[in-house]
Amino acid sequence: MPEPHLFIIHGGTGDLTSRKLMPSLYQIMDESGMSDKVVLLGVGSKDYDDAEYRNFARKALGEAGLTNVDAWCDERVYYQRVDRGESTLSGLADKIAAIETAHHLPGNRVFYLALPPMAFPGVITSLSNSGLNQSPGWTRLVLEKPFGHDLGSAEDLNQLVHRHFNERQIYRIDHYLGKETVRNLLAFRFANALFESSWNRDRVDAVEITVAESLGIGNRAAYYDNSGVIRDMLQNHLTQLLALVAMEAPHSFDAEAIRDEKVSLLNAIRSIDLDEVTLGQYGPGVFDGERVNGYREEGSVPDGSRTPTYVSLKIEVDNWRWQGVPFYLRTGKRMPAKSSQIVVRFRPPPICLFHGKRDECVEHQNIIKLILQPNEGFEVHFDVKSPGETLKLTQKQLRFMYADEFDRLPDAYQTLLFDIMQGDQTLFVRADEVEASWRLFDPVIEAAADHPLHEYAAGTWGPEGRHMPIEWAAGPIRGEVTKSPR
Ligand code: BG6
Repeated sequence: MPEPHLFIIHGGTGDLTSRKLMPSLYQIMDESGMSDKVVLLGVGSKDYDDAEYRNFARKALGEAGLTNVDAWCDERVYYQRVDRGESTLSGLADKIAAIETAHHLPGNRVFYLALPPMAFPGVITSLSNSGLNQSPGWTRLVLEKPFGHDLGSAEDLNQLVHRHFNERQIYRIDHYLGKETVRNLLAFRFANALFESSWNRDRVDAVEITVAESLGIGNRAAYYDNSGVIRDMLQNHLTQLLALVAMEAPHSFDAEAIRDEKVSLLNAIRSIDLDEVTLGQYGPGVFDGERVNGYREEGSVPDGSRTPTYVSLKIEVDNWRWQGVPFYLRTGKRMPAKSSQIVVRFRPPPICLFHGKRDECVEHQNIIKLILQPNEGFEVHFDVKSPGETLKLTQKQLRFMYADEFDRLPDAYQTLLFDIMQGDQTLFVRADEVEASWRLFDPVIEAAADHPLHEYAAGTWGPEGRHMPIEWAAGPIRGEVTKSPR
């Protein structure tokens, strides 16, 4: 169980705090009986006092559907106002000391920076200027994505953080790593010899990683237009999925062993072939029967913006396990459905005994489909002889759905916050991992400015025609077999 500590959120009045962090914290405490061990201190520039912030907390928890929260809010929630740009946080240091004395806390502290990335350097430096990077107990620093804007800025940020904290204290959040189904990838692969023994170039034909989102950019134009899909989704979430699907087995289930293998995989990826990259941007379209805006009509998106909202590309891994096996990654906004999944397609049998033509044999490939969200579960697709005299094969599926077997899946933030409290860094991104990932995508980001940008109608599966590396319009979302160009 986590030790007693003070959980300090910079950005304490923000959207992430009210929607995710507060409800997750509360649920952890409620479910694990830890409510007398953790005190929450929100930090922000709004002029709240403790009583007002407690009301804010009550409202946030109520909106998350949580009940009986009054006692916790009244006894264990505090607020400290900090002016933007303050270089020394003496008011915060005093407040922390007072709370720790009042609640007999041993000086263990989490500093969670739920802030826009441009605020990180200032806050990290001012924490250090105020001596808050050290404490009588442990101190942990949590950073929300994005970690930098490109390789150079990620290196600068890592250097700055390392000037004041050591890597063992740092928790870089990629919320995909907290999703139950993503965590299960390691168990699926390394606890099941049946699958892992086939997880290589001898057996696998191609791997498809798809994260389709039905939402557009909503009111996030200011952030999104400077970011785009490569920075927002590909460099982090999809790359993490790729690393977990393709990494070698770690020598132990230890944070460093696992993260070493992920970095090793990222370093083995060949420079991305720009001819294999397709970029798209959603135009106006129809969603749920209603006309919806195209990207350029959203909020404050500048006229003529070339920011991509869709990307698909091919990744090749130059190592013994994966040489020659294409990994197709694709993600886009304003698709017809929200769906994240990984499809592993196996090679057809060497001799095509049951089908006249080789193509048909390819259409009957075995498939493992890991459905990350929604309707979490997995499927194995295989051929069976249809009963009757003629020899006709039909593809059928074995299916496992979480909902049939387990209760509610915990929210990703609940998992990640609990790990931070316990000091387990397994599900957090290490400095060299962030840099390896930027190294991979920096050339794609640079080339994007002059790369063809294809418009796709909102409510469709992305750019059509020759630009699709795989037939994802007929793709795994509807449960059909997809074909690789090989
Ligand atoms: C965030 C991105 O990191 O992940 C968003 O900034 C995206 O643009 C979101 O919508 C997707 O997360 P999830 O958990 O809804 O798949």
